[in-house]
Amino acid sequence: MLKRRILVTGGSRGIGRAVVVELLKQGHDVVTISRSPSPYSDVSSVTTDLGDLGHLKAVLSSARELLEENKPFDVLVNNAGICSWQKFPMQHLGLVRELRRTMNTNFNSPVVLTNHFLKDLQPFDSKTNARVVNLTSRVAHRGDSEELFYAASKAALLNFTKSMSRDRRFADKVGFWSVSPCWVETDMMTSAGKTETELTADIPIGRTVRTAEVANVVSFLVNEAPMASTGSDFAITGGAF
Ligand SMILES: NC(=O)c1ccc[n+]([C@@H]2O[C@H](COP(=O)([O-])OP(=O)(O)OC[C@H]3O[C@@H](n4cnc5c(N)ncnc54)[C@H](OP(=O)(O)O)[C@@H]3O)[C@@H](O)[C@H]2O)c1
Repeated sequence: MLKRRILVTGGSRGIGRAVVVELLKQGHDVVTISRSPSPYSDVSSVTTDLGDLGHLKAVLSSARELLEENKPFDVLVNNAGICSWQKFPMQHLGLVRELRRTMNTNFNSPVVLTNHFLKDLQPFDSKTNARVVNLTSRVAHRGDSEELFYAASKAALLNFTKSMSRDRRFADKVGFWSVSPCWVETDMMTSAGKTETELTADIPIGRTVRTAEVANVVSFLVNEAPMASTGSDFAITGGAF
């Protein structure tokens, strides 16, 4: 297996943590980013708020420096995300604050990071084989009346993934994929405060998704997915759409 230099955002827990563990097990060099310090001493990490967009160029440089050779990353997994709950109509100040926070974390920061990741990699050639994997969600496809901004931020990220894959300058050099799970067993799912019955009501396999299942798909996209599949979205929804 080709050893890659991989940046995974939000690797301190949940899906990101499972992705990091899987990729480290495969022998890749992995760095992760989160707001709180990584609780795992075996993982190289940068502590920062990704919603702070102005700092992201410097954050990427700091992350590079954690690896043995200070070379560009060749894989970016935009996994960090926050869920926020709202129902309209809302108070103006709360609405503006939540909208900005959700879009900055879930959409704007992956876009800015992708830009700097690509700038670092230039010039592209047939050996580049770079990959960007974006964690979106089932709600990116169908909307959600209780998570308006979250669903919109994930739909924007899904669309961004497709737009990037249409740029012929990246053809066979950089691949872009998205992954859209339904409920996955993490803090984010717990914080929704829903019962097991509510969570699984419209999931045909009758259970929520395990973090290792998402990590498995991300691993496939990072290591093996053919470049011809760029722009694809990989649903992990137990048959639910
Ligand atoms: N769990 C689900 O049901 C589900 C379903 C569909 C899609 N997803 C998506 O999958 C991804 C991972 O979700 P998860 O369930 O693993 O969530 P999680 O358990 O809440 O973990 C989120 C991760 O992102 C980091 N993070 C959040 N905001 C950040 C910020 N502003 N700056 C830096 N790091 C930040 C967190 O670390 P800190 O808190 O330390 O910053 C943590 O490592 C998200 O994009 C989520 O939207 C999840």
